[in-house]
Amino acid sequence: MSQKDFDRILVTAALPYANGPIHLGHLAGAYLPPDMFCRYQRLKGKDVVFVCGSDEMGVAIMIRARNEGVSPKDIVDRYHPMITDSFEKFGMSFDNFSRTTNEIHSETSQEFFRNLAEKDVFSLKTEQQLFDPEAGMFLADRFVVGTCPSCGNDNAYGDQCEKCGTTLSPMELVNPRSTITDATPELRETTHWYLPLGDFQERLEKWIDTHPEWKPNVLGQIKSWLNDGLRERAITRDVPWGVPVPQDVAEKIGVDASGKVIYVWFDAPIGYISATKEWAKEQGKPEAWKSYWQDEKTRLVHFIGKDNIVFHCLMFPAMLMAHGAYVLPDNVPANEFLNIEGSKLSTSRNWAVWLHEYLEDLDPDLLRYALATMLPETKDADFNWNEFQTRVNSELADVLGNFVNRTMTFAHRFAKGKVPELVKPDALDQEVIEKLKTFPDRIGSAYDNYRNREAVFETMALARMGNKYFNDSEPWHSRKTNAQQCANTIHVSLQICASLAVLMEPVLPFSAIRMRKMLGMEGVRSSEPGQSKDGISWDDAGQCLLPVGQKLGESEILFSKIEDDVIEEQKAKLGGPEEEVETSEPYEPVKEIITYDDFVKLDFRMGTVLSAERIPKSKKLLKLQIDLGFEQRQILAGAAEHFEPESLVGQQVAVVANLAPRKMMGMESQGMVLMAEDRTGALSIMQSTGEDGAVIR
Ligand code: 2FM
Ligand code: ZN
Repeated sequence: MSQKDFDRILVTAALPYANGPIHLGHLAGAYLPPDMFCRYQRLKGKDVVFVCGSDEMGVAIMIRARNEGVSPKDIVDRYHPMITDSFEKFGMSFDNFSRTTNEIHSETSQEFFRNLAEKDVFSLKTEQQLFDPEAGMFLADRFVVGTCPSCGNDNAYGDQCEKCGTTLSPMELVNPRSTITDATPELRETTHWYLPLGDFQERLEKWIDTHPEWKPNVLGQIKSWLNDGLRERAITRDVPWGVPVPQDVAEKIGVDASGKVIYVWFDAPIGYISATKEWAKEQGKPEAWKSYWQDEKTRLVHFIGKDNIVFHCLMFPAMLMAHGAYVLPDNVPANEFLNIEGSKLSTSRNWAVWLHEYLEDLDPDLLRYALATMLPETKDADFNWNEFQTRVNSELADVLGNFVNRTMTFAHRFAKGKVPELVKPDALDQEVIEKLKTFPDRIGSAYDNYRNREAVFETMALARMGNKYFNDSEPWHSRKTNAQQCANTIHVSLQICASLAVLMEPVLPFSAIRMRKMLGMEGVRSSEPGQSKDGISWDDAGQCLLPVGQKLGESEILFSKIEDDVIEEQKAKLGGPEEEVETSEPYEPVKEIITYDDFVKLDFRMGTVLSAERIPKSKKLLKLQIDLGFEQRQILAGAAEHFEPESLVGQQVAVVANLAPRKMMGMESQGMVLMAEDRTGALSIMQSTGEDGAVIR
């Protein structure tokens, strides 16, 4: 179906597990892109419902609870409000943000399960599974560790070896043990429901073939799963936390359902349906959810990170097909992963930027904008604080903010704070007015096709156009020589500002509102949920929106520049990066044998880095001042591509103290700092402590 044939849009964002706060990886993968998409569609006047909620079932929650010695409910009751709060402050415009512990969700999931059971979709299997005799429970995959049969890793999980990536079942592990009690699990018989995905392979293939427009990263993963052949998947578990398997379904076939719950990846996507039902109830139209899910004129879009592709593109669609009453997704624009400062994000090492922490210090719009320019849309991307600073300072402040500020200042000083009349516009004025008309479509079609980065670049292109026009028109001259020409420049610049105040809203919702206030602009349609579709729309934004004579509001600075110390503070919050990825590079061969006498000629000492700075024009070198206890040294280290200079200050290092001084870039290096270089070329400081000047042997 082509996009114009849809009557409504239902957008889902992956339900985040309520076992921790939201970080930038989450935002870049599954939250900022759909928010921009939905805000754009609402401004267009489309009928949009945007749902999400906390994923509160499943083993991820149980593990967190066990680690902390509290109940799973304690965990989700702690993180759900925290997630809700930071999403709200970040400007996420959900129509409903629900929870999978709400009753409406267990009812909906059980009903779905019952429906498929009645249609005889599932198969049932009684098998031996691992049981922890000390804890008195069957062990979910993640609660069993053991030796990987493929690579020998001693800490492979029951579902996957994280070292070699092999998918496993707990029974395949050599020497399995329970992560709960460390006991050796026993085999006990248990019965489970399976979803025979293989039965859906053909239908899924045919359906996927109708979507050649999906992102190549998504199609690539789907095709590889399909080529391997889909296998059945157990969709129930023997664990004490989850949506219970409906008793009536079990009884009918003589199975005892007590202690059995629905697998979290069966109930979580149904969470999108329950969140829509909950929304409909809150609207006082309890049946309204149906058209969004069951009318083929719905454009259903799932926004997710790439780790969720198989569930959203194969498993959930198979469930929807099996049920029969539901629409299938029109697109699943999954994003790749976001690295932080060049290294893989790791929550356990705190190599992450936490949204709630960011929001304590900085403005949500700055992050929305900067992150939007760095989204991992087609490949993994990197977020780094220096680029964040550049985006804010040289684009938001210098281009967009500066343009608005100049325009407002001129309007207040030379046009009595009102929109002046446009009289006999010259060629440049006309050209810019014509070009302005093209922006709603240029930016809009990028949003509509899930190219958020491009949409944001196009938005900034409009601000650049405004700035350039202002420069080229030189109103500071014309105000003395040709007052009408100056008024025309102010008029056209104000009109560009007004368009920007609409077109920038998907990415900069808070600033767009502030800008409209400055322009005295009223009657713009809101991109917030549940608002009227009257008023100035996205498409209107190509026109001149401000009536002549309109009184302008007070001018204020839209974006202030971010100073270096603010950036350094943010960087300092980062913990340690994930260990470097495995490499198949050979180890460096060991050098020729030396004698003990050769070795003792080297004088290694402990020292403390007093200061560290980059050397202008050198990509590689850092200039370090090092305290050796008995004296200070200047040492040039080839580490500038590996460390932020600030991160080295205060660290203890090992120094070769009797190396002949050498000149580099016109400066003397009086020794050498020892560092370990791994096979990927990454450097790390050799960690050790001891008094400065201590001899290392
Ligand atoms: O990967 C995750 O964080 C899951 N909680 C996503 C669930 S998406 C959907 F199916 F609910
Ligand atoms: Zn392995």
